[in-house]
Amino acid sequence: MSSAVAVTSRSVEETRILGASLAPLLLPGDVVSLSGDLGAGKTVFVQGVAAALGVSRRVTSPSFVIVHHYEGAYPIVHMDVYRLNSFQEVLDLGFEELLDPEAIMFVEWGEAVTPLLPRRYLEVEMRRAMNPDDPTDRVIAFRPRGAEWGRKVQAMSQTAETLLAAASAETTQRSRFSSAPIPRARDHRGVNDGKGSGA
Ligand SMILES: Nc1ncnc2c1ncn2[C@@H]1O[C@H](COP(=O)(O)OP(=O)(O)OP(=O)(O)O)[C@@H](O)[C@H]1O
Ligand SMILES: [Mg+2]
Repeated sequence: MSSAVAVTSRSVEETRILGASLAPLLLPGDVVSLSGDLGAGKTVFVQGVAAALGVSRRVTSPSFVIVHHYEGAYPIVHMDVYRLNSFQEVLDLGFEELLDPEAIMFVEWGEAVTPLLPRRYLEVEMRRAMNPDDPTDRVIAFRPRGAEWGRKVQAMSQTAETLLAAASAETTQRSRFSSAPIPRARDHRGVNDGKGSGA
């Protein structure tokens, strides 16, 4: 996983810029799994991608309805499996049909359904940086699964560096991305451990 990269987003706007930087690389059939902390900004990231793909409708959290569909340059499927309790529930929802080769799919809490994901996909892991001075800091790791995603992540990071620098008030610009040092976290609840049971 040497091509994984990480960046700190300092604001909602920066997270949207990161999403927008990924958008031009996405093609029908692509799957992006979003994982990490509750309220870290997964939906905000998808808003950034969707706007850059020409979606004019407001992109909202699919937490309660599980699946939203949008039309932009390509059809977009936006899922949130947080409230589903078993792989069977995910399958009963028509997950395999939702993996539409003509659509781009985003799965929030996708790490809970890894066995159902295709072999090649992009994992975007978002964490609250827990920085008391900067409560809006989010550490975002992009972990490509498959060489093709490695190339896309590389291209995305170059675009994002340019766009983040352009949007920043800082005059001295240094590289925002680093190779992702964050170990894959396992401290969140998954589809099989009682999520959505009222806690
Ligand atoms: N740097 C940031 N990037 C994204 N969101 C941020 C950032 N800083 C603060 N926020 C706030 O964090 C919240 C992120 O909400 P969002 O619904 O995108 O999270 P989520 O990861 O999809 O949550 P959930 O786990 O409930 O699906 C929003 O209220 C947003 O305003
Ligand atoms: Mg969300």
